[in-house]
This record gives sequence, structure tokens and C-alpha cells, in this order.
Amino acid sequence: MPATIIMGGQWGDEGKGKLTDALASQSHLVIRANGGSNAGHTVVTDAGTFKLHLVPSGILNPDCVSIIGPGVVVDPPSLVRELVGLQERGIETKQLLISERAHVVLPYHPIIDGLEEQHREAGEIGTTRRGNGPAYADKAARRGVRMADLRTRDRLNKVVRSAVAEHNEVLTRFYGHATLDPDQVVFELDAAAEYLRPFITDAETRVQDMLRDGKRALIECAQGPMLDIDFGTYPYVTSSQSSAAGACQGAGVAPIHVDRVIGVYKAYSTRVGGGPMPTELLDETGERIRQRGREYGTSTGRPRRTGWFDGVAARHVARWNGITEVAVTLTDVLDVFEEISIANAYRIEGVELTTVPAVVDDYFRVEPVYETMPGWGTDITAARTRDELPENAIRYLRRIEAFLDAPVTMAGVGPSREQLVPLSANAAILGGRVAR
Ligand code: GDP
Ligand code: IMO
Ligand code: MG
Repeated sequence: MPATIIMGGQWGDEGKGKLTDALASQSHLVIRANGGSNAGHTVVTDAGTFKLHLVPSGILNPDCVSIIGPGVVVDPPSLVRELVGLQERGIETKQLLISERAHVVLPYHPIIDGLEEQHREAGEIGTTRRGNGPAYADKAARRGVRMADLRTRDRLNKVVRSAVAEHNEVLTRFYGHATLDPDQVVFELDAAAEYLRPFITDAETRVQDMLRDGKRALIECAQGPMLDIDFGTYPYVTSSQSSAAGACQGAGVAPIHVDRVIGVYKAYSTRVGGGPMPTELLDETGERIRQRGREYGTSTGRPRRTGWFDGVAARHVARWNGITEVAVTLTDVLDVFEEISIANAYRIEGVELTTVPAVVDDYFRVEPVYETMPGWGTDITAARTRDELPENAIRYLRRIEAFLDAPVTMAGVGPSREQLVPLSANAAILGGRVAR
């Protein structure tokens, strides 16, 4: 049975959590593919607002197996807090599996994340300081600790003690920072591991078996492709692949199973942290977007940078990821604007560009070339069908569709589950529940 990838289309926070939750009822399993507790995925249901960081956004569907895939980096105490928080709100979590191959974020990783930020010559990247970058660096350097290493107390003790000793050298010699007490690290990690052990398993084999048995998988990406380590605004990126190809690798699903790549795009642009953002609005319009979209980071609470839809970056993402359909979220945020702009090109030193420059210093210097469209000036939050959307809103969505060369099949008109308007007869949300 085919797999669907749900990925961002911009710089993260596009509403991937909401889409994943909405489509989970049509899936047998949801696999989170990348990132760690740097991600913050919001799902709003009748039971309230859930902010998920490591737990897949399928968790609110108890019939759906939720998997933390091998491409994720897991901070065990954070995950325990998240699971306990969900259980306290009456959410069933026993359908969760954690891949043995997922890497572990250890207490020295957030410390090193912060120290690296302080010492970066070109200035801060503005990371979430959750230790994700250093954990992925250790993975690539082949000195990481994996969830499989936490399955027995003996192995945890041996592996973690040696990892702490190695990182204590880095902390003291390179940064002049205090060392960590290996006993304390092992003790605290073992407490979290004790809680997580029932969930840690050979999730990859389970995924393969389910796919063979005709089950339908949803792969949930974290971050956005403009933050992808290979294709994003390097070095102002995260440390994992937030792409369609990365989704397959991080979830352990072969590309041949994927028949649908849903790109989730906001109707405008946001970015948290440093790095180029050509359409950023540092004026009243940008502030209005921030207030209306409640654009404050789900993980860190930082105000998000806001601006008009960047058609150049959006098309770059759609092309290299083979996006087959698009969900445009937060369309309602634009309800109040008389005119709406879209960047259809960049200009640098008088030369027009329709692609994304690889050299970040050039990217910082590009100016957006805008086209404008009339707004719709109506509250669309109650719309549930295409016919209930004003014509100018449809026109705007069609313009985005033309940029991305992929159909916009869904439009978000508010944060809650049901505020998602299907725009085509085969919109994924119309698929109904799967048999189990
Ligand atoms: P994610 O990281 O991609 O899952 O996105 P976040 O959860 O970090 O940020 C998206 C924010 O927009 C959350 O606060 C959502 O509740 C909210 N949201 C999602 N879709 C819509 C929508 O269509 N309209 C409005 N107003 N808010 C939305
Ligand atoms: P979701 O999954 C938005 C940003 C950080 C920083 C850069 C590197 O909720 O869309 P990191 O801590 O990953 O090393 O920080 O990436 N960033 C995100 N921005 N949404 C996210 O996740 C993000 N995860 C990381 O702000 O600029
Ligand atoms: Mg987010």
C-alpha cells in the first residue's frame, strides 16, 4: 500500500502537525522521520491544543500506530515528559514505537549547542539550543548513542559513561566549560530509559511488515526544506534532511512505496532564527501577520519573522521534492488585507533571479520582486467547502498552484481539525477512515 509524505514547504511551522493529525484517520501508521525536540507541531481538537515535539502527530488517533523513526534524535527526558503530559490528558500512548536506530540527545548536546552558538564567528544561527545539531554531528562522526543502547542498564552504563568521558574532554579543553558527572548522567538517563524501554523496538521491521500487509503509512517530516541541511539556506539550517528523500530515509520507507508528497505551505512566509528571508516585513504589515497568525515559536516561544509568500523559495522546494499536492494553511490570516503580495522573482545587482542562490551572502542581498493581488476582505474561518471561499481567495490559491506547478488540494482556514477546506474532489482529507 502506498505511503504519503507530509512535509513543510518553507522554513518550518507550516502546519504539518495539523495535516498529519487530519490524515492519520486514513492511515494505519504515522512515522516521524527527522528532527528532534527542536520541532513543535500543534494539533487543535475538541479536547484542546496539543503541542507535540517528538511524538508523531498521529498519536491522537489511537487506532494508528505512531513511530519515532530512525532519522529522529530523541532526548529521552523530554520524550518522557511529553508522553506523561499526553497520558495525563487522557491520550492513549501504548501504540507508540521508538526505533532502536534513532540517536539519543545526551545532556552535553544542548550545552555544546549553546557554546557553538556563542563561538560562531559569523554570528548565531539562532538554533533552538535543544542539542539537535551536536547530536546529528555525533551520529555522522560515528560516536553517537542510539536508543538500542538504552535497552539494558548494563549497555547504557557502558556506552553512556564512555560518551560522557569523551565529551567532557571537548567541554573542558575546547570551551573551558565545567564537566558533567558521568554517574549523574547515567542515573538520570536510566530513569528515563526505564520508562521508555517498552516502546523501544525494531520499528523498521514492523514498518516493512505493515507495508507488505497493505497498510497505509503517513510520514511526518519536521522543519521545512528551506532549513534542510543540503538544500536550505546553509549554514542557517537545521542538521537533518527535511525533504521528501530525507523522509524516506528517516522513516525507513523505500521511495517505491511513496505515491503522494503533500507540501504544507503557509499562505505567507515565516522563519524563526537567523538566515536570509527575502520577503521579511519589518513593518506594521509584518506585525499584523504575526498577531493574526499567532506567530510565536511552538518550542521556544520566540516571535517568528513574518513576510509575504516567497514564490521563488516555494517553487525551489516543490521542484526538488517532487511535491504532488499542496495544502495552503493559515489562509484566514490574510482575511484583513486589501492587497496581498507574492514574490515572483529576486533581484540582485540589477539582475533578476528565479532560483535560490547557493551562497548565503548573495541570498542575504537579494530583493524580492513582487506582484500584488486583491485581498478578499472577508472572514473565511467558517468556510468548509470550496464554494464558501470568496473568489479572490480561490484566485490567490490558484496563483500559488501556478508557482508550485502542483494542485492546491486543501486550504487551512483556522487552527482546528475541521478548519481544512477540500478544494478538489480527491483531496486527501476526503478519503475517510481506513479499515483496520
Ligand atoms: P508545524 O511545525 O508545521 O506542525 O506547525 P506549528 O504547529 O509549529 O505552527 C502552525 C501554527 O498554525 C499552529 O499554531 C497551528 O495551530 C496553526 N494553524 C495551522 N493551520 C492553521 C490555519 O489554517 N489557520 C490558522 N489560523 N492557524 C493554523
Ligand atoms: P517544525 O517541525 C521552525 C530552526 C531554528 C534555527 C534553525 C536551526 O516545528 O517546523 P536547530 O535547533 O534545528 O539546530 O536550529 O532551524 N528550526 C525550526 N524553525 N520550525 C521548526 O520545526 C524548526 N526546527 C528548527 O529556529 O533557525
Ligand atoms: Mg512547528
